Amino acid sequence: MTAGADQVVVAPSLYAAPLLRIGDAVRAATDGGADAFHVDIMDGHFVGPISFGNLVVDAVRAATTLPLDAHLMVTNPASHVAWLADAGVRAVTLHVEAFAGGASQAIETLNQIRSRGMRAGIAIKPATSVGAIATLVGEVQHVLVMTVEPGSSGQPFLETMVPKILEIVRLFGPTIEVGVDGGINRHTARTSLSAGARYLVAGSAVFTPNLEGTAEAIRAIRAAGAG
Ligand code: DX5
Ligand code: ZN
Repeated sequence: MTAGADQVVVAPSLYAAPLLRIGDAVRAATDGGADAFHVDIMDGHFVGPISFGNLVVDAVRAATTLPLDAHLMVTNPASHVAWLADAGVRAVTLHVEAFAGGASQAIETLNQIRSRGMRAGIAIKPATSVGAIATLVGEVQHVLVMTVEPGSSGQPFLETMVPKILEIVRLFGPTIEVGVDGGINRHTARTSLSAGARYLVAGSAVFTPNLEGTAEAIRAIRAAGAG
């Protein structure tokens, strides 16, 4: 079965938005047809930068009716679940690499996320092999394949991740939404959709060089799945 373009989810990453115009960016993407917002939570430890905390997430929550999906690039994911639930976040994605004991250790936090009424997913860094998340089949509602090294926006899509997307789509099956994050634009969106991804995170392609281009960028990324 080939999924239609209407099944593609486009989630702009606010980390790439101009920080002092974040409200304008939220409006531009909401009005421009985004399906959700991707909110990168970085703790300055799992990755070098520190990004958004509860005050920013609350402000974004108040500025749009679209779902907010959190991507946790933090060393201690469990400590963030409660405030994300309180903020009204729809989905929380954990990095398997945050768990020293591997994927099986992530299950408790994934269950905690679901018990707070949110969708639970796992993210995987470029250097981590698919085997590291194989035991999570049946434990997650989505998988996020990092197509750049996490920590910054504006990096080029790693074409070497395409076989990994294919492998994860095969392993997790058709009901699990596979997403890509990093370097997604209208071209790499097509590549990713062809490999079976359905959830497209896009940062700099949507918010740079300016917000006047946001709606067209979202349209073009979505249309990448159409033909
Ligand atoms: C990187 C973040 C991404 C980033 C994407 O660590 O997880 O969500 O903002 O930005 P682009 O689309 O510019 O690669
Ligand atoms: Zn992200």
